[in-house]
Amino acid sequence: LRIAVLASGRGSNFAALLAARERSELPVEFVLVASDKADAPVLQFAQSAGVPTTVLDPRGYSDRRAYDVALFDRIGASKPDLLVLAGFMRIIDGEALKPWTGRMINIHPSLLPKYRGLHTHRRALKAGDLEHGASVHYVTAELDGGPVIAQTILPIEAGDNENTLAARLLPLEHQLLPAVVALLAAGRLALSEEGITFDNQPL
Ligand code: GRF
Repeated sequence: LRIAVLASGRGSNFAALLAARERSELPVEFVLVASDKADAPVLQFAQSAGVPTTVLDPRGYSDRRAYDVALFDRIGASKPDLLVLAGFMRIIDGEALKPWTGRMINIHPSLLPKYRGLHTHRRALKAGDLEHGASVHYVTAELDGGPVIAQTILPIEAGDNENTLAARLLPLEHQLLPAVVALLAAGRLALSEEGITFDNQPL
């Protein structure tokens, strides 16, 4: 499976994918890491692993659509089978996404459908939730709203704050994302009009 990763920042989820591949747990090839930020640390992870990178600065484009057309042109040129959003902090135009339906996933730090968008840890705490978590979902035009493939759950403890919660969740994300990518690489997951199938059964 040829994978292109889109990421804006730290890149720890991409690093977890690389590590899983190193351990021979992921039969995949990373064909591109694309970022909207020239100084994103994720680019260094990619470069030291020999993965090609590309940076597209949104400031060079008149609007979102123009940017996304250029971005997805570049991504398409590396002929990926799957796109993984791993901390890509931009909303993507619905038209640009359409050709990738069922071939694009995102990791989001909440138990979707709760807390789409930003500040998920803060919102879970504020709501008094007893548990928090992360979700991997297929990407659709609805922000953080596509069908959920898998989730990891984390109990919220008394005294938790945004930082402690984020710090405990991250290692769980690093297990969840490679696990889902492994299922995709094995051809065990698919998205159809009826929803997700796992081993050809509705999820
Ligand atoms: C993660 O919390 C992920 O769930 C969210 O953005 C963060 C990215 O972290 N979408 P990293 O760049 O992978 O370290």
